Amino acid sequence: MMTNMQKVAAVLVVLPLLAVTTFAYAQMDYFAAKQTFSEEELGLRKETLYDEQGTAPSHGEITALEPGESTRIERAFENSPPLIPHDITGMLPLAQTENICLDCHMPEEAVSQGAIPIPKSHFVDLGTGKDLEGKLDGDRFNCMQCHVIQTRISVPVANLFKGEFRDKEGKYRSNLIDILNEGVEAD
Ligand code: HEC
Ligand code: HEC
Repeated sequence: MMTNMQKVAAVLVVLPLLAVTTFAYAQMDYFAAKQTFSEEELGLRKETLYDEQGTAPSHGEITALEPGESTRIERAFENSPPLIPHDITGMLPLAQTENICLDCHMPEEAVSQGAIPIPKSHFVDLGTGKDLEGKLDGDRFNCMQCHVIQTRISVPVANLFKGEFRDKEGKYRSNLIDILNEGVEAD
């Protein structure tokens, strides 16, 4: 049995809780009744959702700087594929046999072109670990599958992602092939 003191204490706890809950429900009802959103307010694009007229996609502005004139772009995260900082007009499509990117980026050409040499990882069959001795892996000829051109565009939702770099060199250089097996014990 509860003593009188315990009964008073229980009422003191329960009553304010009841009051708060009732108030919260009343508030929710109030907003549900008052706050309705028009179609134009629902999406990020602030246009009706049933008509594409005013919402042509924006492709942004692509650099016109030629290879050799552009400035390299900081990597998004350690060993991410670097963005292409220069114009690529007229360079596409890429094929295994005809691939203008190789003219400047193959390691033996890159030095004279002032370009960044294709890294060792692209000359290894990553499936088997076989060193292809200077021959580009067949999976790598389509550079644009992984490397994309930088575009200037304003985005409706800011990207707050911040890449981690264990070594600040990694902001402009990759070392994937050297660290790929980190933490893996060989037999
Ligand atoms: C005429 C030579 C030339 C051609 C062709 C060329 N590039 Fe480049 N590329 C460069 C140079 C030089 C740089 C360094 C930035 C600069 O000086 O403009 C570079 C930079 C890059 C980078 C940035 C590397 C980094 O570490 O930041 C990537 C990625 C790249 N190019 C990819 C490509 C792809 C893909 C193609 C083919 C569609 C291509 N390039 C064609 C010369 C060339
Ligand atoms: C399957 C995805 C993929 C393809 C295809 C690919 N790359 Fe890469 N590339 C990467 C990644 C990931 C990195 C960074 C990690 C590394 O070194 O492998 C990179 C790094 C690079 C770098 C920077 C090297 C450095 O020392 O920092 C250059 C230059 C480059 N690639 C050029 C090319 C060119 C040119 C082609 C086409 C012939 C190509 N890549 C095809 C994924 C790719």
